[in-house]
Amino acid sequence: MIYVIGNGIAGLSAAISLFNSGYKVTVITKNITGGSTYIAKGGLAAAVGENDSPEIHAKDTIIVGDGLCDEKAVSYVTKEAPLAVEILEKWGFRFASDLRLEGGHSRRRVLHKTDETGRDIYDFLMYKAKQLGIQLVEDRVKSLKVENNEIKGFITERRGEISADKIILATGGYGYLYKYSSNQSTNIGDGMAIAFRAGAFLADMEFVQFHPTVTALDDETFLLTETLRGEGAKIINDKGERFTFKYHEKGELAPRDVLSRAIYSEYLKGNKVFMDLSNIENFEEKFPVVNNYLKRHNLSVIDKIPIFPGAHFVDGGIRVNTRGETNIEGLYAIGEVSDTGLHGANRLASNSLAEGLVFGINISNYIDKWEGLYFNDGEIYSLQLTNGNLIDINEIRTINWENIGIVRNEEKLNKAISIYTQADTFSTNENSNAALVSLLTAKAAEIRKESRGNHYREDYPSKDNKWKKRIYFKIQ
Ligand code: SIN
Repeated sequence: MIYVIGNGIAGLSAAISLFNSGYKVTVITKNITGGSTYIAKGGLAAAVGENDSPEIHAKDTIIVGDGLCDEKAVSYVTKEAPLAVEILEKWGFRFASDLRLEGGHSRRRVLHKTDETGRDIYDFLMYKAKQLGIQLVEDRVKSLKVENNEIKGFITERRGEISADKIILATGGYGYLYKYSSNQSTNIGDGMAIAFRAGAFLADMEFVQFHPTVTALDDETFLLTETLRGEGAKIINDKGERFTFKYHEKGELAPRDVLSRAIYSEYLKGNKVFMDLSNIENFEEKFPVVNNYLKRHNLSVIDKIPIFPGAHFVDGGIRVNTRGETNIEGLYAIGEVSDTGLHGANRLASNSLAEGLVFGINISNYIDKWEGLYFNDGEIYSLQLTNGNLIDINEIRTINWENIGIVRNEEKLNKAISIYTQADTFSTNENSNAALVSLLTAKAAEIRKESRGNHYREDYPSKDNKWKKRIYFKIQ
């Protein structure tokens, strides 16, 4: 039996692909929420347009990744994405015929169905998995069992110990661990924490991506998709200024790290920031889900929508090769929980659904041909777990927003490190998982004394070539 942990695009597409290839597979998930796939609005990036190619898609990915993309992973995902889309369509999913545009893309290449394409794909994959009779179990995996660097099984909250020689982690990231976030409350870094405790290498943990345009009308958090800006939405402050051009020549279509810092700076200056949707042609037809959201809150396309940047995606995670293999034999990681190197220091919009689908669908091709992870692109640091005090998740969200957020410096980072080194990072509960990934983020951000991609340090505001390498962590 192959166990897939997690039920977003990566986990479900892996389960379906393995089942179709004749493997027995069970999906285990802490909560059946679909994680960040469910909240993904824009779509899935794949070079399927007439004037596009995997090479152009790769070039855009590498530019946004700011010097840290693993070019093998980039070439693999950009080539495989159109093929994975074909397979998804063979399974019965239908994308709309037009392609949308998002920041950092030099071509229209964002495949969508509606304006909540992540949810559309999630609903379809869940339906398909159930139709095939794939077992889906709600339970929380607490830890992994490893002997002589080989996976032997895992321990769950309700079922106890289960033997397994192949486990695929697809548990997503930890964007929820920031006070302002686009993520669901399930995304708190569980998979990364349990893999780390079992001996897996984590990398690129300093690169947490903030999405510039999150809103929360009457406390209902909602991601205002970047495709709105691709179709003409403007960002203005309460003085009516389209201030984003002061920060980047591409204005609203600048890379999201630049826009997030621009909006954050406006707030620090005491300005409020809004999205103006009134320029979008056929708004109701193109964005029915956004339109319904506005209606639910008694607003319409002519109103200015308050926006703020929120933690959205973790570029780093469990380091894997292009087969999703970790350094522990039999343990795979795919989707946001993994670090394939595709995103480098900053993820190109809509590459996350593409990556999840490619790694999920392709895993059945090599699940029986283990090669293992080898790397020489960075420095390895070790970290000792501590058995300290338990910190509440809401407290962690505030600590992270204030100290390892959009703008970082030595003092703030040391504050977070000091809090988390006294916290419980040893136990297997969710708070300890959250504290552990937060500690690793703070440590990596402290070590990286430069600004690159999503990682911005006001005390080291420039990029430094000597940091053109990955920061890895391993348990001591
Ligand atoms: C969006 O629709 O703006 C999100 C797309 C992404 O994060 O890739």
